[in-house]
Amino acid sequence: MTKKWWHDKVAYQIYPKSFYDSNGDGIGDIPGIISKLDYLHDLGVDIVWLSPCYKSPLADQGYDISDYYSIDPRFGTMEDMENLIAEAKKRNMYILMDLVVNHCSDEHEWFQKACQDPEGKYGNFFYLRDKKEGELPTNWRSYFGGPVWEDLPGTGKQYLHVFHKKQPDLNWENPELREEVYKNINWWLDKGLAGFRIDAIINIKKALPFRNYAPDREDGLCSINEMLKEAKGIGEFLGEMRDRTFKKYDAFSVGEVFNEKPEEIPDFIGEDGYFSSMFDFNETIFGASGKGWYDAAQISPDDYRNCCFESQRKVGETGFLSNIIENHDEPRGVSRYIPEGDCCLESKKMLAALNFMLRGLPFIYQGQELGMENVSFSSIDEVDDISSLDEYKVALEAGLTPEEALKAVARFSRDNARTPMQWSDEANAGFTTGSPWLKVNPNYTAINAAAQLSDPDSVWNFYKKLIALRKNPAYKETIVYGALEPVWEERHNLMAYYRKGDRTLLVIGNYQQKEQEVILPSECRKVLLNNYPDMVMENNVLKLHGYQVLILEL
Ligand code: GLC
Ligand code: CA
Repeated sequence: MTKKWWHDKVAYQIYPKSFYDSNGDGIGDIPGIISKLDYLHDLGVDIVWLSPCYKSPLADQGYDISDYYSIDPRFGTMEDMENLIAEAKKRNMYILMDLVVNHCSDEHEWFQKACQDPEGKYGNFFYLRDKKEGELPTNWRSYFGGPVWEDLPGTGKQYLHVFHKKQPDLNWENPELREEVYKNINWWLDKGLAGFRIDAIINIKKALPFRNYAPDREDGLCSINEMLKEAKGIGEFLGEMRDRTFKKYDAFSVGEVFNEKPEEIPDFIGEDGYFSSMFDFNETIFGASGKGWYDAAQISPDDYRNCCFESQRKVGETGFLSNIIENHDEPRGVSRYIPEGDCCLESKKMLAALNFMLRGLPFIYQGQELGMENVSFSSIDEVDDISSLDEYKVALEAGLTPEEALKAVARFSRDNARTPMQWSDEANAGFTTGSPWLKVNPNYTAINAAAQLSDPDSVWNFYKKLIALRKNPAYKETIVYGALEPVWEERHNLMAYYRKGDRTLLVIGNYQQKEQEVILPSECRKVLLNNYPDMVMENNVLKLHGYQVLILEL
């Protein structure tokens, strides 16, 4: 495999609105990010991905872009963005932006022009269909609820939106649209961006001609996935985009890819793949139900391990997955993957190490390095996220009481990850001097960066050690390129694997409160990381404490 500049890096996702507010308006901003670059550098982060900060009405918090060439004033100016790129460079860091091109905002100029003249050039930038009274062009349900069709204002037509109605889908079949997308990507890469995280990209290819599928809920609609399963030929778009943009710049690209088939992996992330990498969502989608969040199954430690290993086996050494335990669309990893009641310092560190040492590129989501947890909502009025609001409705319609519906939604709400970053125990967790756009998790007095930086046993310092280990010249080859081999897979509540390269490492996590014993297959040469002060071993029998994690060199 040809070595790439990004293989040995560590990435970090920033959700700008909730990261750090520099001017007291309650909204995080780019100057705020710049002021925290040293914090990230100190942790050991190399690549920083920013969720969208382009001009946007923020109907979906910036994933609805009204101008791809400007920064939303709430987040700062273009000059701020240029400063950020320059300041990152000074620290040998790289900035990625979010590429949101399955759809734009209904406030984008293209959409406005399509409304004015649906038969003209810009009408063909979208999927428009003639409106028929009492009948929709298709019965697909949007990801955020309700039909995917909405009236195109001032015309006798309707437009397609697989997400919110303020996010009209762009017509990738139209070469003129594709040109506009490539032009924009190259414009940003010319500014010195290192690459992009690519949003919702699997939706750009639609199965044509449009048709209905069997309804799967009382609403008579069907999941978008039915149509996507039938859509063939996305590779032509993705390959063209790679060749016209990323490849020329040796840029890094990571795709938000769901439901890929094993045989497609080489095309997506192999040597000359469409993307440098793609996220592993196997754990994220575990237990999901077609009925809605309220019906989703809880993931167990064994499920978590099996999901990770399944992805690792699927990809093998074909390419590099990007590994996450959370992002801005998911609940906090420690609240989700650690059994209820067991979330503590040790279990948080265990989860961190088990995930971080997988083969692939580790991504840390803001606050993950502090062990930030889900927030509790006392009423649906405290919820901002459009997806959570829809799921609440779905749960009520399914017959849940308002309390049950709130509980179901709270478990998965995207707002869990979007509460402001907890910098200190000062007012509003030190995130803003004003009033924060979304409520701060009240546990900030206990969980915050200021306290953790100075505490050698904090989650933050554990992440710092994990990053330092990945970069340690003695182990780097093995951690970055070494093969992953699962061990003791039949054991209950135990996750363990080898990383084998020029050295042999063994990662072992006791995924439960009870002690557990394992017999080491060979002599332990060195303990590289331990989330306890001690390691109890007699002969080769290792007695693991509850939630103990060890990284050993054998
Ligand atoms: C992706 C984003 C999510 C957004 C959606 C529509 O899944 O991560 O936040 O709502 O795409 O752009
Ligand atoms: Ca601000």
